[in-house]
Amino acid sequence: MTETLTVEQASRELAEDHRRLHDLIDRLGRADDLSAMAEALADLHAALTGHFNQEEKPGGLYDALGVCAPSFRQHLAELVDDHFRFAGVVRDLRERARAAEGAAADSLRGDVARLLSALADHERREHEMVKAASGA
Ligand SMILES: [Fe+2]
Ligand SMILES: [Fe+2]
Repeated sequence: MTETLTVEQASRELAEDHRRLHDLIDRLGRADDLSAMAEALADLHAALTGHFNQEEKPGGLYDALGVCAPSFRQHLAELVDDHFRFAGVVRDLRERARAAEGAAADSLRGDVARLLSALADHERREHEMVKAASGA
């Protein structure tokens, strides 16, 4: 089925992007002071916004998923909302890391951990849709 191939192709094209994001996320998780955190958050922000544009572009993964299974459209809209929210959260965290003093690092770390688990959940939902579309 042509649509299925398109989903698989679009998903393959994003695989390298996803790997790179994992590296950045690992780096952020390991950042042990505010300036390392601010740097990791700045790089993550740039990589994520580029990645979200790739997923949402015409002919990209979300397009392919929506064509393949119209029933996915509500879920896709939720993923697009996530993208918008994540970009804002990462930007805010980056600004907080830049402005914060040492004592604020712990509360920032808690918010970073929440962001990372929300990102992991987002990715899991994306993968499930790709699997459902490919295995159908
Ligand atoms: Fe996404
Ligand atoms: Fe993604």
